[in-house]
Amino acid sequence: MRQGGFVAADDEARELVECSNGDAVLLAALVDRRMNGEPLAWITGFSMFCGTRVKVSRGVYVPRWQSEPLARSAASRLTVQGVAIDLCTGSGAIAKVLTATRPQSRVVATDIDEHAVACAAANGVEVYLGDLFSPLPQELKGRVDVVVGVVPYVPTRSMALLPHDTFVFETVLSYDGGDDGTDVLRRVIGESPRYLRSGGALLLELGGDEAEILQDELQRNGFNDVTVVFDEEDDVRGIEATYGR
Ligand SMILES: C[S@@+](CC[C@H](N)C(=O)[O-])C[C@H]1O[C@@H](n2cnc3c(N)ncnc32)[C@H](O)[C@@H]1O
Repeated sequence: MRQGGFVAADDEARELVECSNGDAVLLAALVDRRMNGEPLAWITGFSMFCGTRVKVSRGVYVPRWQSEPLARSAASRLTVQGVAIDLCTGSGAIAKVLTATRPQSRVVATDIDEHAVACAAANGVEVYLGDLFSPLPQELKGRVDVVVGVVPYVPTRSMALLPHDTFVFETVLSYDGGDDGTDVLRRVIGESPRYLRSGGALLLELGGDEAEILQDELQRNGFNDVTVVFDEEDDVRGIEATYGR
């Protein structure tokens, strides 16, 4: 594993050994898969996210540690018996963190990919198959504390800059945000006011100049208190905004 240039080679090797359950032939096959660039989570079947073990099936987006602050912040905005929506849920990692933090709340999620929906359901998430808000129960309209999403936001022109392995193993559906990266983000900003209660929050992961590009869109749709979230390297990682009031 060290020869493969993996950052945490020893940890990864330990996980693969555990997963092989003492079967040397299986272990060799697992190491082979990893050396070919397959995500570790697909091989072991799980990933840790905010300290929670999340099942991740083959083909489903692996939750990133960079999204953990967004998940934690969304959880802090969810009231004890409130309602949250996790759009584009993938494995359901964010929804799972929300439920773990507020066990009495109702957390619903959607994804357009049936494999992701099956995976999120296996993680115990109330998940619906379909485009953004469209498959959600109508009764949630106007009642939601938090809409959170790690939606596709990579500008189409930048897709080629993603690591080579990305599209050997993952689908463009998880990444492609259209021309300037904001196609799906704009739709979420436009559609979430139908679901949010006044004072509810919208939290979205994004990058580059997208927060700036979306300022007018947010205002036009009734959002205020817009905060741009930066990471430790001072790169833009997301926005948080309050609806109405
Ligand atoms: C970047 S992944 C994020 C997954 C998850 N939220 C996480 O952080 O681990 C984006 C997800 O959005 C889903 N997706 C893409 N377009 C969608 C749409 N229009 N409606 C619902 N889900 C969509 C993809 O299938 C993928 O699972």
